[in-house]
Amino acid sequence: MIHDASYPARPLLATDPHYPRYHFLPAANWLNDPNGLIHWEGVYHLFYQYNPHGPFHGTIHWGHAASRDLVHWEDWPIALAPTPGGADAGGCWSGCAVNDHGTPTLIYTGVHPQVQCLAVSHDGLRTWEKHAEPGIAAPPPGYPTKDFRDPYVWRDGDHWLCVVGSTTSDGRGTVFLYESPDLRSWTYRQPICFGNPEVNGRIWECPNLFPLGNRYLLLLSPIPLRKSVYLIGTFEDGTFRPESQTDFDGGGCLYAPQAMRDAAGRRLVWGWLWEDRPREACMTAGWNGVMSLPRQLDLDSDGTLRITPVSELAALRGAHWQCRDLPLKGTIPLEDLHGDGLEIEAEFEVETAGQVGLLIRRSPDGEEETRIVYDPVAGSLSIDRTKSSTDPVVERDIRSAELRSTDGRLSLQVFVDRSVVEVYANRRVAMTSRIYPNRPDSLGIAAFGEEPAHLRSLDVWEMRTIWE
Ligand code: FRU
Repeated sequence: MIHDASYPARPLLATDPHYPRYHFLPAANWLNDPNGLIHWEGVYHLFYQYNPHGPFHGTIHWGHAASRDLVHWEDWPIALAPTPGGADAGGCWSGCAVNDHGTPTLIYTGVHPQVQCLAVSHDGLRTWEKHAEPGIAAPPPGYPTKDFRDPYVWRDGDHWLCVVGSTTSDGRGTVFLYESPDLRSWTYRQPICFGNPEVNGRIWECPNLFPLGNRYLLLLSPIPLRKSVYLIGTFEDGTFRPESQTDFDGGGCLYAPQAMRDAAGRRLVWGWLWEDRPREACMTAGWNGVMSLPRQLDLDSDGTLRITPVSELAALRGAHWQCRDLPLKGTIPLEDLHGDGLEIEAEFEVETAGQVGLLIRRSPDGEEETRIVYDPVAGSLSIDRTKSSTDPVVERDIRSAELRSTDGRLSLQVFVDRSVVEVYANRRVAMTSRIYPNRPDSLGIAAFGEEPAHLRSLDVWEMRTIWE
């Protein structure tokens, strides 16, 4: 045990068929953004926006979980709660964690109005002491906005830099840059860049700015896009110059990703997976929101972003099934295989014009199924939820991301975890969706495609739950 307190396990695991088995989420209630990610003395700390009072957004606290292996998580006590009469009386909104010369320090947004606050721990990240005054008490002159939040801080030589997400009076997203010698008093420097509302929304939430390879990555969650994007570019003298913009996740359910650097120097990212079913369904379920699996980011030699799930997840692999060189003729159900907690690795040969892919959470008669489809002509990867559930109230759309195989191969890594599906393709594209199959027998897997496309290899593992 990392911590000595005992916390309830996950009772909903046994009773709720949609409650994930190996993704982190609290035992009940509301979760949104990942916050304060930090690797401290060999332990990964994951804080998150949390409402202890119900499965809806309100009275936002910072929940806290910790892990040694990025796979198994232990609940730690709530880290931050709103202080009546304080700068965060209306909620402890998103922020980050840094190591201030040995003192764990959180910088986060207090509301309302939105100001940037600070808290420190003197007992190994267990309890947190707030600094009474906000370090940044208002947006910079010339930017009269109420949207001013989600500080992201890093060390730069002998001082600290901080970016805060915001908007301009004419409705463009922007990120303000601040500098501080001590994390307590901050000097405004400038906006690092401005957006274009046609391309990247009006208000930028949860900015993350960090070096990757020989470039900088700016991760943004723009309102009203309902998705996150990353901009690759340069950052010099306080100015970010974007060279490209891409969706961070094409599945339509991941938002507010936060990145950290671990002791091994890896850039790891988590995102909030929201529910894609009505509020009433979440109220009945008693929980709302899941954390994505941790993914590693690297910049490839060709300048593109590589997104891969962390290798540690292999620790959850149990029973294994494999097949090699399967010709594809229509839909081929994989008879002995079924489950709602699986990892699937599939390598396809796709030198043909036809679609190929996998069907998961499939009922024996195909009434329910979720389709993962690669279309070489369209150059797209899709998650098709039109038949994911017979329940008419849940979201049932088709989401697509751009993907072009350059070498005639398609490599899919798919994590099925009850209501969560995470798809990683060719180490380039990530798509995460939520599905709510209605039938208890929607557990099957099938591959599909047309000759000469074929499946070079398929590996399926049952994934162990992290809660037992
Ligand atoms: C993003 C966000 C942040 C804010 C937090 C509030 O999902 O809106 O901008 O700090 O959630 O919970």
